Amino acid sequence: MSELESMLVPLAPLSPAQTVNEVGEILLDREYRRFLCLPVVDRGRPVGAISRDEVQSIFMKMYGRELNGRKPIFSVMNPRPLVVDMDQSLDQVGRYISANIRFPITEDFIITRNGEYVGVGHVVDLLGAMQSRLGRANSELTQACERLKSSRAQLVQSEKMASLGQMVAGVAHEINTPLGYVKNNVGLARDLLDQVGRRLAVCEALLARLVSGEADEAEVEASLAEIAELRENMGVEVASEDIAALFDDTQYGIDQISEIVLNLRDFSRLDQAPVDSVDLNQCFDSALLIARNAIKYKAKVIKQYGAIPKVRCSPSQINQIFLNLLTNAAHAIEGEGRIAVKTYADQRFVHVEVQDTGKGIAEEHLTRIFDPFFTTKPPGEGTGLGLSIAYQIARRHNGHLRVVSKLGLGTKFRLSLPLTEP
Ligand SMILES: Nc1ncnc2c1ncn2[C@@H]1O[C@H](COP(=O)(O)OP(=O)(O)OP(=O)(O)O)[C@@H](O)[C@H]1O
Ligand SMILES: [Mg+2]
Repeated sequence: MSELESMLVPLAPLSPAQTVNEVGEILLDREYRRFLCLPVVDRGRPVGAISRDEVQSIFMKMYGRELNGRKPIFSVMNPRPLVVDMDQSLDQVGRYISANIRFPITEDFIITRNGEYVGVGHVVDLLGAMQSRLGRANSELTQACERLKSSRAQLVQSEKMASLGQMVAGVAHEINTPLGYVKNNVGLARDLLDQVGRRLAVCEALLARLVSGEADEAEVEASLAEIAELRENMGVEVASEDIAALFDDTQYGIDQISEIVLNLRDFSRLDQAPVDSVDLNQCFDSALLIARNAIKYKAKVIKQYGAIPKVRCSPSQINQIFLNLLTNAAHAIEGEGRIAVKTYADQRFVHVEVQDTGKGIAEEHLTRIFDPFFTTKPPGEGTGLGLSIAYQIARRHNGHLRVVSKLGLGTKFRLSLPLTEP
Protein backbone atom coordinates (compact mmCIF):
# COMPACT_ATOMS: atom_id res chain seq x y z
CA MET A 1 0.00 0.00 0.00
CA SER A 2 1.38 3.39 -0.94
CA GLU A 3 1.72 5.99 1.82
CA LEU A 4 -0.96 8.07 0.15
CA GLU A 5 -3.40 5.16 -0.03
CA SER A 6 -3.38 4.89 3.76
CA MET A 7 -4.83 8.39 4.10
CA LEU A 8 -7.32 8.16 1.22
CA VAL A 9 -11.03 8.68 1.95
CA PRO A 10 -13.21 7.59 -1.02
CA LEU A 11 -15.72 10.40 -0.52
CA ALA A 12 -18.52 10.61 -3.12
CA PRO A 13 -17.80 13.83 -5.04
CA LEU A 14 -20.17 16.70 -5.88
CA SER A 15 -21.10 17.48 -9.44
CA PRO A 16 -20.66 21.01 -10.82
CA ALA A 17 -24.38 21.31 -11.64
CA GLN A 18 -25.57 20.79 -8.05
CA THR A 19 -26.88 23.95 -6.48
CA VAL A 20 -25.41 25.62 -3.45
CA ASN A 21 -28.54 24.81 -1.49
CA GLU A 22 -28.28 21.11 -2.33
CA VAL A 23 -24.66 21.11 -1.31
CA GLY A 24 -25.55 22.87 1.93
CA GLU A 25 -27.78 19.92 2.80
CA ILE A 26 -25.08 17.44 1.88
CA LEU A 27 -22.59 19.24 4.12
CA LEU A 28 -24.68 18.32 7.14
CA ASP A 29 -24.07 14.65 6.40
CA ARG A 30 -21.68 13.03 8.90
CA GLU A 31 -19.24 11.75 6.32
CA TYR A 32 -18.88 15.17 4.68
CA ARG A 33 -18.67 17.05 7.95
CA ARG A 34 -15.08 15.86 8.45
CA PHE A 35 -13.88 17.82 5.42
CA LEU A 36 -13.03 21.48 5.07
CA CYS A 37 -13.49 21.40 1.33
CA LEU A 38 -15.26 19.00 -0.99
CA PRO A 39 -14.30 17.68 -4.39
CA VAL A 40 -16.27 18.65 -7.47
CA VAL A 41 -15.94 16.09 -10.24
CA ASP A 42 -17.17 16.17 -13.81
CA ARG A 43 -17.21 12.93 -15.79
CA GLY A 44 -14.70 11.33 -13.44
CA ARG A 45 -12.22 14.20 -13.48
CA PRO A 46 -11.80 16.74 -10.69
CA VAL A 47 -12.75 20.24 -11.81
CA GLY A 48 -12.75 22.13 -8.53
CA ALA A 49 -13.27 22.15 -4.79
CA ILE A 50 -15.95 23.79 -2.78
CA SER A 51 -15.09 25.34 0.55
CA ARG A 52 -17.34 24.31 3.44
CA ASP A 53 -16.97 27.79 4.86
CA GLU A 54 -18.10 29.45 1.68
CA VAL A 55 -21.18 27.26 1.20
CA GLN A 56 -22.16 27.62 4.83
CA SER A 57 -21.86 31.39 4.74
CA ILE A 58 -24.38 31.42 1.85
CA PHE A 59 -26.58 28.71 3.20
CA MET A 60 -26.84 30.08 6.72
CA LYS A 61 -28.06 33.55 5.66
CA MET A 62 -31.68 33.68 4.63
CA TYR A 63 -31.12 36.23 1.88
CA GLY A 64 -27.95 34.51 0.79
CA ARG A 65 -29.89 31.28 0.38
CA GLU A 66 -32.52 33.11 -1.60
CA LEU A 67 -30.02 34.98 -3.74
CA ASN A 68 -27.28 32.47 -4.33
CA GLY A 69 -28.64 29.14 -3.18
CA ARG A 70 -30.08 28.24 -6.53
CA LYS A 71 -26.83 28.87 -8.34
CA PRO A 72 -24.81 25.84 -9.41
CA ILE A 73 -21.75 25.25 -7.25
CA PHE A 74 -19.76 25.60 -10.41
CA SER A 75 -20.00 29.39 -9.93
CA VAL A 76 -18.68 29.45 -6.37
CA MET A 77 -16.12 26.65 -6.34
CA ASN A 78 -12.35 27.03 -6.37
CA PRO A 79 -11.40 25.98 -9.90
CA ARG A 80 -7.79 25.18 -8.95
CA PRO A 81 -7.99 22.63 -6.16
CA LEU A 82 -5.02 20.67 -4.81
CA VAL A 83 -4.83 17.45 -6.85
CA VAL A 84 -2.27 14.71 -6.32
CA ASP A 85 -1.82 11.38 -8.01
CA MET A 86 -1.82 8.09 -6.12
CA ASP A 87 1.54 7.14 -7.66
CA GLN A 88 3.33 10.15 -6.24
CA SER A 89 5.62 9.69 -3.28
CA LEU A 90 4.91 11.33 0.02
CA ASP A 91 7.84 13.68 -0.60
CA GLN A 92 6.50 14.77 -3.99
CA VAL A 93 3.03 15.32 -2.55
CA GLY A 94 4.49 17.25 0.39
CA ARG A 95 6.46 19.50 -1.93
CA TYR A 96 3.47 20.11 -4.21
CA ILE A 97 1.08 20.87 -1.37
CA SER A 98 3.44 23.22 0.44
CA ALA A 99 4.08 25.10 -2.81
CA ASN A 100 0.43 25.40 -3.83
CA ILE A 101 -1.70 25.55 -0.71
CA ARG A 102 -3.45 28.89 -0.41
CA PHE A 103 -5.62 28.48 2.66
CA PRO A 104 -3.56 26.49 5.13
CA ILE A 105 -5.56 24.13 7.28
CA THR A 106 -8.80 24.90 5.46
CA GLU A 107 -7.85 23.09 2.27
CA ASP A 108 -7.78 19.36 1.72
CA PHE A 109 -6.52 17.60 -1.37
CA ILE A 110 -8.06 15.50 -4.10
CA ILE A 111 -6.48 12.17 -4.97
CA THR A 112 -6.60 10.81 -8.54
CA ARG A 113 -5.33 7.76 -10.33
CA ASN A 114 -4.38 8.41 -13.95
CA GLY A 115 -6.34 11.66 -13.74
CA GLU A 116 -9.52 9.92 -12.50
CA TYR A 117 -10.97 10.95 -9.15
CA VAL A 118 -10.55 8.31 -6.40
CA GLY A 119 -10.99 10.23 -3.15
CA VAL A 120 -9.73 12.94 -0.84
CA GLY A 121 -7.13 13.31 1.88
CA HIS A 122 -6.56 15.64 4.84
CA VAL A 123 -3.60 18.03 4.75
CA VAL A 124 -3.25 17.50 8.50
CA ASP A 125 -2.87 13.71 7.99
CA LEU A 126 -0.25 14.38 5.35
CA LEU A 127 1.68 16.65 7.71
CA GLY A 128 1.48 13.98 10.42
CA ALA A 129 2.77 11.26 8.07
CA MET A 130 5.61 13.47 6.93
CA GLN A 131 6.53 14.40 10.45
CA SER A 132 6.72 10.81 11.63
CA ARG A 133 8.76 9.95 8.56
CA LEU A 134 11.18 12.74 9.34
CA GLY A 135 11.40 11.45 12.89
CA ARG A 136 12.20 7.95 11.61
CA ALA A 137 14.78 9.26 9.14
CA ASN A 138 16.29 11.38 11.86
CA SER A 139 16.70 8.46 14.25
CA GLU A 140 18.12 6.31 11.42
CA LEU A 141 20.60 9.08 10.66
CA THR A 142 21.56 9.36 14.30
CA GLN A 143 22.15 5.60 14.43
CA ALA A 144 24.16 5.63 11.20
CA CYS A 145 26.21 8.50 12.58
CA GLU A 146 26.92 6.53 15.76
CA ARG A 147 27.90 3.47 13.70
CA LEU A 148 30.21 5.62 11.58
CA LYS A 149 31.80 7.10 14.65
CA SER A 150 32.49 3.72 16.15
CA SER A 151 33.82 2.21 12.93
CA ARG A 152 36.07 5.23 12.53
CA ALA A 153 37.41 4.65 16.03
CA GLN A 154 37.97 0.99 15.14
CA LEU A 155 39.82 1.95 11.98
CA VAL A 156 42.05 4.35 13.83
CA GLN A 157 42.75 1.64 16.37
CA SER A 158 43.49 -0.99 13.73
CA GLU A 159 45.82 1.36 11.88
CA LYS A 160 47.67 1.92 15.13
CA MET A 161 47.85 -1.82 15.60
CA ALA A 162 49.02 -2.35 12.02
CA SER A 163 51.81 0.20 12.30
CA LEU A 164 52.76 -1.26 15.65
CA GLY A 165 52.66 -4.76 14.18
CA GLN A 166 55.02 -3.73 11.39
CA MET A 167 57.44 -2.52 13.99
CA VAL A 168 57.27 -5.55 16.23
CA ALA A 169 59.44 -7.63 13.92
CA GLY A 170 62.02 -4.86 13.80
CA VAL A 171 61.93 -4.40 17.54
CA ALA A 172 62.31 -8.13 18.12
CA HIS A 173 65.41 -7.92 16.00
CA GLU A 174 66.71 -4.94 17.96
CA ILE A 175 66.25 -6.80 21.21
CA ASN A 176 67.79 -9.96 19.83
CA THR A 177 71.23 -8.45 19.23
CA PRO A 178 71.98 -7.32 22.80
CA LEU A 179 70.18 -10.41 24.08
CA GLY A 180 72.60 -12.57 22.08
CA TYR A 181 75.70 -11.20 23.69
CA VAL A 182 74.19 -10.98 27.14
CA LYS A 183 73.48 -14.71 26.87
CA ASN A 184 76.94 -15.37 25.57
CA ASN A 185 78.58 -13.37 28.36
CA VAL A 186 76.58 -15.12 31.03
CA GLY A 187 77.70 -18.52 29.67
CA LEU A 188 81.32 -17.34 29.59
CA ALA A 189 81.17 -15.99 33.13
CA ARG A 190 79.69 -19.22 34.36
CA ASP A 191 82.49 -21.28 32.80
CA LEU A 192 85.13 -19.01 34.28
CA LEU A 193 83.60 -19.12 37.71
CA ASP A 194 83.47 -22.95 37.55
CA GLN A 195 87.19 -23.16 36.84
CA VAL A 196 88.10 -20.52 39.40
CA GLY A 197 86.00 -22.48 41.89
CA ARG A 198 87.88 -25.69 41.17
CA ARG A 199 91.26 -23.99 41.56
CA LEU A 200 90.14 -22.45 44.78
CA ALA A 201 89.06 -25.86 46.14
CA VAL A 202 92.51 -27.41 45.46
CA CYS A 203 94.24 -24.39 46.99
CA GLU A 204 92.04 -24.55 50.08
CA ALA A 205 92.64 -28.31 50.55
CA LEU A 206 96.40 -27.74 50.27
CA LEU A 207 96.26 -24.84 52.67
CA ALA A 208 94.40 -26.98 55.24
CA ARG A 209 97.00 -29.76 55.00
CA LEU A 210 99.82 -27.20 55.35
CA VAL A 211 98.25 -25.54 58.39
CA SER A 212 97.69 -28.87 60.13
CA GLY A 213 101.32 -29.80 59.36
CA GLU A 214 100.24 -33.13 57.91
CA ALA A 215 101.32 -32.43 54.34
CA ASP A 216 104.49 -34.05 53.09
CA GLU A 217 106.62 -32.79 50.28
CA ALA A 218 105.22 -35.12 47.65
CA GLU A 219 101.66 -34.14 48.47
CA VAL A 220 102.48 -30.39 48.21
CA GLU A 221 104.13 -30.97 44.88
CA ALA A 222 101.17 -32.92 43.52
CA SER A 223 98.76 -30.18 44.58
CA LEU A 224 100.90 -27.46 43.02
CA ALA A 225 101.05 -29.44 39.77
CA GLU A 226 97.26 -29.78 39.77
CA ILE A 227 96.84 -26.04 40.30
CA ALA A 228 99.26 -25.32 37.46
CA GLU A 229 97.34 -27.66 35.18
CA LEU A 230 94.03 -26.03 36.02
CA ARG A 231 95.58 -22.69 35.30
CA GLU A 232 96.94 -24.03 32.02
CA ASN A 233 93.49 -25.27 31.06
CA MET A 234 91.98 -21.87 31.51
CA GLY A 235 94.26 -20.72 28.74
CA VAL A 236 94.74 -17.21 29.93
CA GLU A 237 95.18 -15.71 33.28
CA VAL A 238 91.75 -14.50 34.31
CA ALA A 239 92.25 -11.06 35.62
CA SER A 240 89.57 -9.53 37.74
CA GLU A 241 89.39 -6.65 35.20
CA ASP A 242 88.40 -9.15 32.52
CA ILE A 243 85.51 -10.37 34.58
CA ALA A 244 84.51 -6.80 35.39
CA ALA A 245 84.55 -5.95 31.64
CA LEU A 246 82.39 -9.00 30.94
CA PHE A 247 79.85 -7.78 33.45
CA ASP A 248 80.01 -4.21 32.12
CA ASP A 249 79.27 -5.50 28.66
CA THR A 250 76.38 -7.55 29.92
CA GLN A 251 75.03 -4.60 31.85
CA TYR A 252 75.18 -2.49 28.68
CA GLY A 253 73.21 -5.10 26.76
CA ILE A 254 70.58 -5.27 29.45
CA ASP A 255 70.32 -1.45 29.49
CA GLN A 256 69.80 -1.46 25.75
CA ILE A 257 67.03 -3.98 26.04
CA SER A 258 65.31 -1.98 28.78
CA GLU A 259 65.56 1.17 26.69
CA ILE A 260 63.84 -0.52 23.76
CA VAL A 261 61.18 -1.99 26.01
CA LEU A 262 60.60 1.41 27.61
CA ASN A 263 60.19 3.07 24.23
CA LEU A 264 57.89 0.37 23.08
CA ARG A 265 55.78 0.83 26.17
CA ASP A 266 55.55 4.59 25.57
CA PHE A 267 54.62 3.97 21.99
CA SER A 268 52.04 1.34 22.71
CA ARG A 269 50.08 3.59 25.04
CA LEU A 270 47.55 3.65 22.28
CA ASP A 271 44.64 4.98 24.23
CA GLN A 272 44.07 8.69 24.56
CA ALA A 273 47.40 9.20 26.22
CA PRO A 274 47.32 12.01 28.72
CA VAL A 275 48.58 15.35 27.58
CA ASP A 276 52.04 16.07 28.83
CA SER A 277 54.76 18.63 28.46
CA VAL A 278 56.91 17.01 25.81
CA ASP A 279 60.35 17.54 24.35
CA LEU A 280 59.79 16.78 20.67
CA ASN A 281 63.49 16.07 20.11
CA GLN A 282 63.29 13.28 22.67
CA CYS A 283 60.01 12.14 21.24
CA PHE A 284 61.53 11.89 17.77
CA ASP A 285 64.50 9.93 19.12
CA SER A 286 62.13 7.42 20.59
CA ALA A 287 60.33 7.01 17.25
CA LEU A 288 63.70 6.68 15.52
CA LEU A 289 64.66 3.86 17.85
CA ILE A 290 61.48 1.98 17.08
CA ALA A 291 61.77 2.59 13.32
CA ARG A 292 65.51 1.92 13.27
CA ASN A 293 65.18 -1.46 11.68
CA ALA A 294 62.95 -0.25 8.86
CA ILE A 295 65.34 2.59 8.06
CA LYS A 296 68.76 1.20 8.71
CA TYR A 297 69.51 -0.35 5.31
CA LYS A 298 67.79 2.39 3.30
CA ALA A 299 68.67 5.74 4.70
CA LYS A 300 71.17 7.67 6.72
CA VAL A 301 69.38 9.80 9.28
CA ILE A 302 70.71 13.32 9.63
CA LYS A 303 69.53 15.09 12.76
CA GLN A 304 69.45 18.83 13.08
CA TYR A 305 67.72 19.36 16.39
CA GLY A 306 67.17 22.92 17.51
CA ALA A 307 66.79 24.14 21.09
CA ILE A 308 63.00 23.96 21.19
CA PRO A 309 60.68 24.54 24.13
CA LYS A 310 58.51 21.69 25.37
CA VAL A 311 54.97 21.58 24.02
CA ARG A 312 51.75 20.31 25.52
CA CYS A 313 50.72 17.25 23.55
CA SER A 314 49.93 13.58 23.76
CA PRO A 315 53.36 11.98 23.33
CA SER A 316 52.13 8.61 22.09
CA GLN A 317 50.03 10.23 19.38
CA ILE A 318 52.86 12.48 18.23
CA ASN A 319 55.10 9.42 18.29
CA GLN A 320 52.65 7.76 15.95
CA ILE A 321 52.92 10.66 13.50
CA PHE A 322 56.73 10.53 13.56
CA LEU A 323 56.77 6.79 13.08
CA ASN A 324 54.46 7.12 10.09
CA LEU A 325 56.53 9.86 8.51
CA LEU A 326 59.68 7.82 9.01
CA THR A 327 58.27 4.60 7.55
CA ASN A 328 56.73 6.48 4.62
CA ALA A 329 60.10 8.14 3.95
CA ALA A 330 61.91 4.79 4.12
CA HIS A 331 59.34 3.25 1.76
CA ALA A 332 59.76 6.11 -0.72
CA ILE A 333 63.52 5.65 -0.93
CA GLU A 334 64.54 3.23 -3.64
CA GLY A 335 68.07 2.03 -3.02
CA GLU A 336 69.84 4.26 -0.52
CA GLY A 337 69.04 7.78 0.55
CA ARG A 338 68.86 10.30 3.35
CA ILE A 339 66.25 11.32 5.86
CA ALA A 340 66.90 14.74 7.38
CA VAL A 341 65.13 15.69 10.58
CA LYS A 342 65.08 19.30 11.62
CA THR A 343 63.39 20.88 14.62
CA TYR A 344 63.00 24.59 15.33
CA ALA A 345 60.57 27.03 16.88
CA ASP A 346 59.11 30.42 16.08
CA GLN A 347 56.84 32.74 18.07
CA ARG A 348 53.83 30.48 17.91
CA PHE A 349 54.84 27.00 16.85
CA VAL A 350 57.39 24.25 17.27
CA HIS A 351 58.14 22.66 13.89
CA VAL A 352 59.47 19.23 13.07
CA GLU A 353 60.52 18.62 9.49
CA VAL A 354 61.13 15.21 8.00
CA GLN A 355 62.70 15.40 4.57
CA ASP A 356 63.60 12.44 2.43
CA THR A 357 65.43 11.88 -0.84
CA GLY A 358 62.77 9.42 -1.99
CA LYS A 359 60.82 9.22 -5.21
CA GLY A 360 58.53 12.15 -4.39
CA ILE A 361 54.78 12.49 -4.81
CA ALA A 362 53.05 13.16 -8.12
CA GLU A 363 51.21 16.48 -8.22
CA GLU A 364 47.80 14.87 -8.74
CA HIS A 365 48.38 12.76 -5.63
CA LEU A 366 49.48 15.61 -3.39
CA THR A 367 45.94 16.71 -2.64
CA ARG A 368 44.85 13.19 -1.84
CA ILE A 369 47.55 11.79 0.42
CA PHE A 370 45.74 12.95 3.57
CA ASP A 371 42.51 11.23 2.48
CA PRO A 372 41.68 8.07 4.37
CA PHE A 373 42.51 4.95 2.33
CA PHE A 374 44.54 6.77 -0.30
CA THR A 375 47.60 4.64 -0.97
CA THR A 376 49.86 3.93 -3.90
CA LYS A 377 51.19 0.81 -2.23
CA PRO A 378 50.15 -2.62 -3.43
CA PRO A 379 47.23 -4.26 -1.63
CA GLY A 380 48.24 -5.67 1.71
CA GLU A 381 51.20 -3.32 2.07
CA GLY A 382 49.51 -0.07 2.95
CA THR A 383 46.12 0.80 4.37
CA GLY A 384 46.42 4.42 3.29
CA LEU A 385 45.40 5.54 6.75
CA GLY A 386 48.78 6.63 8.10
CA LEU A 387 48.73 10.22 6.90
CA SER A 388 45.02 10.79 7.38
CA ILE A 389 45.37 9.82 11.02
CA ALA A 390 48.53 11.90 11.36
CA TYR A 391 46.64 14.86 9.92
CA GLN A 392 43.78 14.42 12.35
CA ILE A 393 46.11 14.10 15.32
CA ALA A 394 47.84 17.33 14.26
CA ARG A 395 44.46 19.09 13.94
CA ARG A 396 43.34 17.81 17.32
CA HIS A 397 46.42 19.45 18.78
CA ASN A 398 45.53 22.73 17.05
CA GLY A 399 48.56 22.23 14.87
CA HIS A 400 49.06 21.25 11.27
CA LEU A 401 50.82 18.83 9.01
CA ARG A 402 52.03 20.17 5.65
CA VAL A 403 53.82 18.65 2.72
CA VAL A 404 55.97 19.76 -0.20
CA SER A 405 57.26 17.31 -2.74
CA LYS A 406 59.05 17.16 -6.04
CA LEU A 407 58.72 14.07 -8.15
CA GLY A 408 62.05 12.29 -8.40
CA LEU A 409 63.71 14.53 -5.78
CA GLY A 410 62.02 13.91 -2.50
CA THR A 411 59.40 14.97 -0.01
CA LYS A 412 59.27 17.13 3.08
CA PHE A 413 56.60 16.90 5.76
CA ARG A 414 56.36 19.53 8.45
CA LEU A 415 54.48 19.00 11.69
CA SER A 416 53.78 22.21 13.61
CA LEU A 417 52.43 22.20 17.13
CA PRO A 418 51.38 25.37 18.95
CA LEU A 419 53.37 26.64 21.86
CA THR A 420 50.21 27.40 23.82
CA GLU A 421 48.21 24.65 25.43
CA PRO A 422 46.01 22.81 22.89
N1 LIG B 1 57.58 10.47 2.05
C1 LIG B 1 56.82 10.09 1.02
N2 LIG B 1 57.32 10.03 -0.24
C2 LIG B 1 56.56 9.65 -1.29
N3 LIG B 1 55.24 9.32 -1.18
C3 LIG B 1 54.68 9.38 0.03
C4 LIG B 1 55.43 9.76 1.20
N4 LIG B 1 54.59 9.73 2.25
C5 LIG B 1 53.40 9.34 1.78
N5 LIG B 1 53.43 9.13 0.46
C6 LIG B 1 52.31 8.74 -0.43
O1 LIG B 1 51.11 8.93 0.28
C7 LIG B 1 50.36 7.74 0.31
C8 LIG B 1 49.56 7.69 1.59
O2 LIG B 1 50.39 7.55 2.72
P1 LIG B 1 49.81 6.95 4.05
O3 LIG B 1 50.88 6.94 5.07
O4 LIG B 1 48.54 7.66 4.39
O5 LIG B 1 49.40 5.48 3.63
P2 LIG B 1 50.35 4.27 3.22
O6 LIG B 1 51.75 4.55 3.67
O7 LIG B 1 50.15 4.01 1.77
O8 LIG B 1 49.74 3.09 4.04
P3 LIG B 1 49.95 2.82 5.61
O9 LIG B 1 50.49 4.08 6.21
O10 LIG B 1 48.62 2.48 6.09
O11 LIG B 1 50.90 1.70 5.65
C9 LIG B 1 51.39 6.63 0.15
O12 LIG B 1 50.81 5.46 -0.39
C10 LIG B 1 52.38 7.27 -0.80
O13 LIG B 1 51.93 7.20 -2.12
MG1 LIG C 1 52.14 5.24 5.76
